[in-house]
Amino acid sequence: MSLTKLEALFADKLTELQQQGLSKGHEKIITGMRSAANGFGPRYFLEGFGNRAFLRMNSNSYLGLATHPQVIKAEADAAEKFGTGPGAVRFISGTYQPHVELEQKLAAFHGRESAMLFSSAYTTMTGVLPQFISDDTLVVSDALNHNCIINAIRLSHPASKEIYAHADINALDKILEAYKGRVKRVCLVTDGIFSMRGNYAHLNKLNACCKRHEDAYEEGIITIVDDSHGVGAFGRTGRGTEEYSQGRADVLIATLGKAFGVNGGYVVADSAVVAYLRETSPFYIYSNPITPAEASAASAALDIVNSDEGLNLLEKLRVYSAYLRVGLKEFGFKTLQGEHPIVPIMTRNTEKTSALVAHLLDNNILVTGLNYPVVPQGDQEIRLQVSAEHTKKDLDYLLAKLAEFEQ
Ligand SMILES: Cc1ncc(COP(=O)(O)O)c(C=O)c1O
Repeated sequence: MSLTKLEALFADKLTELQQQGLSKGHEKIITGMRSAANGFGPRYFLEGFGNRAFLRMNSNSYLGLATHPQVIKAEADAAEKFGTGPGAVRFISGTYQPHVELEQKLAAFHGRESAMLFSSAYTTMTGVLPQFISDDTLVVSDALNHNCIINAIRLSHPASKEIYAHADINALDKILEAYKGRVKRVCLVTDGIFSMRGNYAHLNKLNACCKRHEDAYEEGIITIVDDSHGVGAFGRTGRGTEEYSQGRADVLIATLGKAFGVNGGYVVADSAVVAYLRETSPFYIYSNPITPAEASAASAALDIVNSDEGLNLLEKLRVYSAYLRVGLKEFGFKTLQGEHPIVPIMTRNTEKTSALVAHLLDNNILVTGLNYPVVPQGDQEIRLQVSAEHTKKDLDYLLAKLAEFEQ
């Protein structure tokens, strides 16, 4: 069969995306890295940019653990011992000691009975959320939730779905009131840290709101929180949005691919829930886990987060994030209040966003510009991400280059 007709349709679609400014374009290819030196943090080399060395302000490796010697060694040693790929899905012959050890450590870290690994946080959400949604369930979701939540809801068959205005507890309260007697169960799902702005869900208030209405629902109200940008980056000890907002998720999902610097995702919950998920979640049952080496690396990263070194890295991250926020304000850039290492520059304008990204690239700084409809109209921004691997000299360099930009 010829693909000619379909390829023409795909080409039209690509042109449409480009015209709408939605195309991601060519991916930059990292070809190498230079370690921290002379008071500056690591620099990255890109294909097509010769020997220019770039400061990376758009990495999720918030604690710099992706290049930590202990994490690298743990991965290398485990690859030596167990080989590279897992060779099978978990229930066939793909469960290795490092997977089980990591699950135990993650459960303990979050103060839960059990943990379960997936190949990414995205597949954790798509593998977990639908298992909680029956045809007698209302799903309630924050308007700014991550794409994995949107698609996880699409994979499920709820009685009804409601999207509440971003972080609007009153709106949530009204929805929970309105659905009494109409469904047996409510599944409330939210990001912990919202990845575009670095702001957080006030889990304590969400918990209180759910508690007010819970008795009216025969099967209760379950909160599922994806704190992929929070765990390891937020809260004094890195326990994320739960720690910072003094709230608790019934089911907590996070990634191993951001602050932990490795790859993969996980869920923590009561043992009964995890036992049920291991038997029912297709993204777990029918798909390979992360490699044993990745699991070992993530274990080593978790040990670091759990140590004095981790506390110091988290403190550094907080201090640097605050330093950048203050510096931005001094130079007349609009940002959002907060303590998370996602520090947005609110350009609120598409052309300005593109011009600023280009200006910084010219000056060897990598940043991410977010335009409508990735963010709502009027919320166009540059998303800066601070990492503990940055130095004060890096941030001063960034601020100096920002100051040269004609606003
Ligand atoms: C809230 C949230 N969930 C999930 C993900 C995806 O994480 P992973 O790369 O582990 O699939 C992201 C990453 O952008 C995220 O921000």
